[in-house]
Amino acid sequence: SRTGVVVLAAGSGQRLGFGIPKAQVLLGEEPILRHALAGVVAASVADRIVVALPHGEKPGPGTLHEVVEVFLAEHRDAEWELSVVEGGATRADSVARALSALDGVERVLVHDAARPLVPVQVFQRVADALVAGARAVIPAIPVVDTIKQVHTSHGADADISPELVTGNIARESLRAVQTPQGFSYAALKAAHDDAQYLDDKQAEAITDDAMLLESRGVPVHVVAGSTYSLKITTPVDLILAEGLLEGPLA
Ligand code: C5P
Repeated sequence: SRTGVVVLAAGSGQRLGFGIPKAQVLLGEEPILRHALAGVVAASVADRIVVALPHGEKPGPGTLHEVVEVFLAEHRDAEWELSVVEGGATRADSVARALSALDGVERVLVHDAARPLVPVQVFQRVADALVAGARAVIPAIPVVDTIKQVHTSHGADADISPELVTGNIARESLRAVQTPQGFSYAALKAAHDDAQYLDDKQAEAITDDAMLLESRGVPVHVVAGSTYSLKITTPVDLILAEGLLEGPLA
């Protein structure tokens, strides 16, 4: 009956453009990773937490290792255990490494540190679905934009714009998918073990963990996510997150 939570903080943060790992960037007064860890702990869903840190990062002042050490020092009497692993070159590699460190748990939540403001209710909805028997569960929200399919054409009008619309997808049937995503540990581990044989192009197309299970015929349940669960990717996301943290809605 043990639940593990993987917190992925091994990304470079290139698109955010601060020249440091994204999870180390300050949101309010604390690094993004610290917010993410506080969210996991506040939700009370984890027996074990494994944090994937950037490949090659040496422990020391001003590092994500230090963020984890400080967090641990402040939670000495906690019921959960927390450890770190070195992340991989891709998100999926980082997940696979963290899963190896979680051997023995029954269920696992995989969470992006880049989503530091996920409400505790979302963690709990995902964890509850697993306890109720789901082998895979993802939090998602309705899509608010109209979504169109485009094709890049190199025809005569390319000087106006090389992109042309080829179709529409009914918005009602679409969901924007977030983390934490929840899984039976055995199902996710098996899927990742098999995924190491994908070629680079196939691996690139796998942008979340649920996809790996969908392709194996495992039903993926959808529960309500939250607009607070935004993923910090570009500078505007950081401004939005600062607003959520301080604003009247917080
Ligand atoms: O780059 P992106 O924002 O899509 O990354 C999503 C999450 O995956 C982030 O929390 C990032 O730290 C993590 N990641 C990772 N290892 C990688 C690449 C991304 O843990 N090699």
